[in-house]
Amino acid sequence: MSLQGKRIVVGLGGGIAAFKAVQLVRELMRRGAEVRVVMTEAATRFVGPITFAGLTGKPAVTDLWAEDYAGEVHVELGEWGDAVVIAPATMNLIARATSGQANDALLATLACARGDVFFVPSMHQRMWLHPATQSNVRVLTERGAVVLGPVNGPLANGEVGEGRMLEPDDIADAVESHLAHSDDLAGTRVLITAGPTHEALDPVRFLGNRSTGRMGYAIAAQALRRGAEVTIVSGPVQLPVPTGAEVVPVRSARQMHEAVMSRFDRFDVVIMAAAVADYRPVQRVAQKIKKGGSMKLELVRNPDILADVGAKRVQQPSVLVGFALETENLEQAARGKLEQKGADLIVANEASVGLGGDSNCATLVDATSASPLPEMSKRALADQILDRVRTLLKNPSRKPRHEAKRGAPN
Ligand code: CTP
Repeated sequence: MSLQGKRIVVGLGGGIAAFKAVQLVRELMRRGAEVRVVMTEAATRFVGPITFAGLTGKPAVTDLWAEDYAGEVHVELGEWGDAVVIAPATMNLIARATSGQANDALLATLACARGDVFFVPSMHQRMWLHPATQSNVRVLTERGAVVLGPVNGPLANGEVGEGRMLEPDDIADAVESHLAHSDDLAGTRVLITAGPTHEALDPVRFLGNRSTGRMGYAIAAQALRRGAEVTIVSGPVQLPVPTGAEVVPVRSARQMHEAVMSRFDRFDVVIMAAAVADYRPVQRVAQKIKKGGSMKLELVRNPDILADVGAKRVQQPSVLVGFALETENLEQAARGKLEQKGADLIVANEASVGLGGDSNCATLVDATSASPLPEMSKRALADQILDRVRTLLKNPSRKPRHEAKRGAPN
């Protein structure tokens, strides 16, 4: 009964998988949730609202204009639900949600949702793989919605492909595990570095790297969802700011260093997901460099922000997390960094996966263990990292830093 006390709005789009929503509603209720149902007009062509009224004991909402309802049903439902689960989410529904339409009861409820929003797509594979759908799904995800599936399997017309809706049990599992995390970081202050740094060569050129900042921003989004107060010290990225985060924009490693060093001791957790340039040009040339023969570039080391926080922290942050990108000896190299940089946790990435993509394959290395994780979305990995952070926050057996580091050279 792990959804006990949770209030879930199930929203149906008009797709053949709508019949599975009946089972989904039952399963969510079996796990203890209170469920209300909203349907698009198209959805009512696939399953009857009466079925849901019978299951939930409340009429399924199908009409924004119902005369027997005095209030604003979409505002009430959006406020009521701890989550809105759209299943099936059709191509059309996803497109309308992305563009912010609110011209039926389901879309208007979605627009008013205060809780977590889940889309469970179901459509023919060509509709799913259509560039419009793919780009819409990216936008919804960036706005904080969770997209569950679809999976590869038999489709309505007998073809096999990617587009099949997840089974009701799997949807309920995902919703349950997502909601279980709600607010478990309430009151925790988290500082995250994210993105690349740009090391200026002249007024128009810089040395950079392929980091997109998605990993750091995913951690920020998940930490916010779990109730944390989040500040992102962000290198140059093309990502929307997660709602509720404070962002401190920087360009170079030295600016990032300054931004972190001036505030790290006000945070419980510091997570260094940025791909900081280890070197910068010795000097930034004032005018644009003109082409000539061959040229040599002289570089100097940048400060190591993670190591500096590790060396200088007294009480805060209680948990310091670094990343490591390795091509070999993943665990050993990560353990070396854990010790050298005074971190509590290193997220060690295979260099072959992760940089620039949507998924990541990591091993979590702390003082006592190394946990290899399967390849997963950056959002899922963010939650795994935050789960570990939470354990470390609660673990009193950690060596007190102020003893170990007192008098350490700067
Ligand atoms: N880091 C940092 N400041 C730097 C360089 C790195 O804070 N100047 C942080 C990164 O944010 C990351 C971790 O340190 O959390 C990565 O450590 P690094 O030693 O750079 O490891 P790799 O990137 O894996 O590179 P290498 O092993 O080549 O040193």
